[in-house]
Amino acid sequence: MSLKMETGEIMDIEEMKKELERELGPKLYLHSLGTMEEAERLASFYGCDIKKARIAGLLHDCGKAQCKDNLKHAKKSADLAGAKYGVEDESILNAILYHTTGRVNMTLLEKIIFIADKIEPARHYEGVEEIRKEAYKNIDAAIIKSLESTIEYVRSRNMVLDMESVNTLNYLKEGK
Ligand SMILES: [Fe+2]
Ligand SMILES: [Fe+2]
Repeated sequence: MSLKMETGEIMDIEEMKKELERELGPKLYLHSLGTMEEAERLASFYGCDIKKARIAGLLHDCGKAQCKDNLKHAKKSADLAGAKYGVEDESILNAILYHTTGRVNMTLLEKIIFIADKIEPARHYEGVEEIRKEAYKNIDAAIIKSLESTIEYVRSRNMVLDMESVNTLNYLKEGK
């Protein structure tokens, strides 16, 4: 899929990869590739648009090198995906924007990017295997598990909790 850039140029996925590798450094670049691949698997499993899932997965942290703040890097990444990588598709930009917190009425693509980010192959943390398995059975239940453990982690360390995460959790639990 080629995407028109603001400059009128076209950036394809291979060019995006090259730019990201320069921009992000090896660890975050590897995580971005892993998220792209996981998003592709999930999209084909759940019948979502594979090209959109690949691009959103690849670019979901594209602003993280410039914005380390955990709560703000998603916004920075969505902005850059538009301005620098030429993404115009709102559904891709929203999947990037909401990848850390989710939101009420999340689309399937948003759910896929949210969970692909948390379970891609380079992710290693306690409980990841359980979330990985759940992601291919019930994606909502996997997001609930992931949000609950994030909220627990944030609370136990007295870090700032993004209320959007709590809203997403309550919304998904109501739908169960
Ligand atoms: Fe992120
Ligand atoms: Fe990420």
